[in-house]
Amino acid sequence: MSIDWDPAAREWHLRNGLTSWVLAVLPNGWLGQLHAGAPLAAGTAYGHLGPRDFRGFDNRVGEPVGLALPVPGLGDFRVPGLVVEAADGSQVVEPRYAAHRILAGKPPLPGLLPASYAEDGAEADTLEVDLRDEPTGLLLTLSLTIFRDLPVVARSLRMANLGPARLVVRTAMSATLDLPDDDWRLVTFSGAWARERMPVDRPIVPGRQGVGSLRGGSGNEHNPSLVLRRPWTTESAGECWGAVLAWSGNFLAEAEVGHFGTTRLRIGLHPEQFAWPLEPGASFATPEALLAWSGGGLSALSASLHEILRRRMARGAWRDADRPVLLNNWEGTYFDFDHERIVAMARAARAMGVELFVLDDGWFGARDSDDRSLGDWVADPRKLPHGLGALAREVRSLGLLFGLWIEPEMVSADSDLFRAHPDWTIGVPGRHRTESRQQLVLDFANPAVVDHIAGAIGEVLAGAPIDYVKWDWNRFITEPFSPTLPPDRQGEFSCRYTLGVYDLYRRLTERFPHILFESCASGGARFDAGMLAWAPQAWTSDDTDAVERLRIQWGSSFAYPLSSMGAHVSAVPNHQTGRTAPLDFRAAVAMFGVFGYELDPTALSADELAAVRRQVAFYAERRQVLQRGRFTRLRSPFEGDGNETAWMVASADGSRAIVAHYRVLQRPWPHRDRLPVRGLDPRARYAVTCWTSFEAPMPTVERGGDELMAVGLGIEPPDPMPAGGGTGADGHRLVRGDFSFRLFDLRRLP
Ligand code: GLA
Repeated sequence: MSIDWDPAAREWHLRNGLTSWVLAVLPNGWLGQLHAGAPLAAGTAYGHLGPRDFRGFDNRVGEPVGLALPVPGLGDFRVPGLVVEAADGSQVVEPRYAAHRILAGKPPLPGLLPASYAEDGAEADTLEVDLRDEPTGLLLTLSLTIFRDLPVVARSLRMANLGPARLVVRTAMSATLDLPDDDWRLVTFSGAWARERMPVDRPIVPGRQGVGSLRGGSGNEHNPSLVLRRPWTTESAGECWGAVLAWSGNFLAEAEVGHFGTTRLRIGLHPEQFAWPLEPGASFATPEALLAWSGGGLSALSASLHEILRRRMARGAWRDADRPVLLNNWEGTYFDFDHERIVAMARAARAMGVELFVLDDGWFGARDSDDRSLGDWVADPRKLPHGLGALAREVRSLGLLFGLWIEPEMVSADSDLFRAHPDWTIGVPGRHRTESRQQLVLDFANPAVVDHIAGAIGEVLAGAPIDYVKWDWNRFITEPFSPTLPPDRQGEFSCRYTLGVYDLYRRLTERFPHILFESCASGGARFDAGMLAWAPQAWTSDDTDAVERLRIQWGSSFAYPLSSMGAHVSAVPNHQTGRTAPLDFRAAVAMFGVFGYELDPTALSADELAAVRRQVAFYAERRQVLQRGRFTRLRSPFEGDGNETAWMVASADGSRAIVAHYRVLQRPWPHRDRLPVRGLDPRARYAVTCWTSFEAPMPTVERGGDELMAVGLGIEPPDPMPAGGGTGADGHRLVRGDFSFRLFDLRRLP
């Protein structure tokens, strides 16, 4: 890995053998992007990929050209990466190259911006390019970090007003990326509550296309990530790009096709409802975007994003630790519980093999329903007469860890906090405040509010032995306005709110470094790379139905690692869909995520308890591969009739792999099927054990890695047998009926 500077050609080449980015100072001082993507040879100048002399009418530097920092008003009529308004109201600034630095490692981003990091100078190199707009005194610093072992570049932009007059930043993208053609399809991840991150794959056409959020959080509706793929790119072959934004608030992610057939990708803070004044001497920094390139298909792209997010965005004691199997009481009790019932559930959970008990919403204030008490973070003496500490200690004495739900950014109108501080909620004075889930949002742009909540939640976490926190956020922001910001700074509000959230995360994670944080927002409404810097796992979706989860976890896996995706087995009929899927099927899906249960374990029959015990044992034995292995998508629930899904996880050295195949509805007279797998050692032999329930596996067979990858695992049709199932020739229960699955455990033989 290195960043080469060629002073004669005025070119930088960021390269690591996996990807190359070539940038140049163009003849007029602008910053050009000559190449990004496939690795190119070092020691060569690539100026010929840049602008050619073109005396036409299109723009000042020549024919359509890749620009690393496009601004408006100078003849490049595509969407800009940066718009700054000068004191005279003009929006014409012309950043020209001033200086650059090549640094070993990766400097942190200023303030509270979450960002990827390097643990030492050998892991990454960073290029910082300073650009100046002389008339205004605007100084820009574009930062690009290339990681040694991944085809990933982290990009962000800082700006400082070194001039005499006020400037206003109107658009500040974290990244733009100019690609020389438009032969791409755009994939975004969209949905709604309970059906988050469904891949939406479409051709790109002239003009702009993309997604964004103006909800004050990244949202269930669209994710701050996107993929560009060649039309011929598949999971296992072909070129593609992925971009994720390390930011949990309003965002924009889009692709623009220009009139000469070029593509400009941009991702960053949503420019609408945004304006950041820069007084003389002031500075501003954008969040970070991570851009990954793959020449080997979509699963390889995802694997790179998973690596950077799991190992160099997540941090703290829990980053690399085995994540505990948890049981959350929410769907088991909702608000209806007390000390005795929780202890009984915890005891039953312990008997299942669960390692962490999580007490969800309803433990504080007088919270018998979702219309009150948010903000009053004191245990409800009616439900918990001995206090939270006593409950936590009792649960822990059973040999479990203890976790707690909070929703610190919210307040109910019916709460002591709101009665004491009605001015602490978001809203425009004199106007209606929209309630959602009967609650209001606290003004986290006001540091006094963050201080108060840090104190109140800090007291809760210090007052009881708490190992885990589920941090929820159950409504979007309406009437965005902070009474503490002056009128000309209201455009900062949304950013300042998100920075306030990060400030509370910083305080709590610093004060309680042993706590495992899981972020949540009505399920997956803030499932983004920014949150992963504070909370290494997130509740993927409130939809716990296993069939729906196949689609949700498939879509989420484009950007996010399995170690970040909370996935629970819940009761049937499922509370979101009413579907009744078998217990083992539900578990086989949830294991491809951070595994847990969300039901009342005291309501399980003896048979179900025994089944659950087997599931937990199965998962615990394979957890390191499942949580840290390389994930590959094999068969998509979004293709064909969506009846089948398959995916797998393999250890980095190919010695162990877990492959899952799911069939939702059985078909009569099914044919014999083959499922080719990936990431094995083609020269090795593997012991292959197939589980169609967690009761007992089929007899282990031996197969070559070459065969398993080239031909595939056998998905055998069920033998003819009596209706209602039975025992097959090999003495094991055969797969018959709806909701069948096969889990293959592959071990390399010595
Ligand atoms: C949200 C979460 C759920 C649960 C409830 C509690 O909807 O996503 O998991 O915690 O809040 O009110």
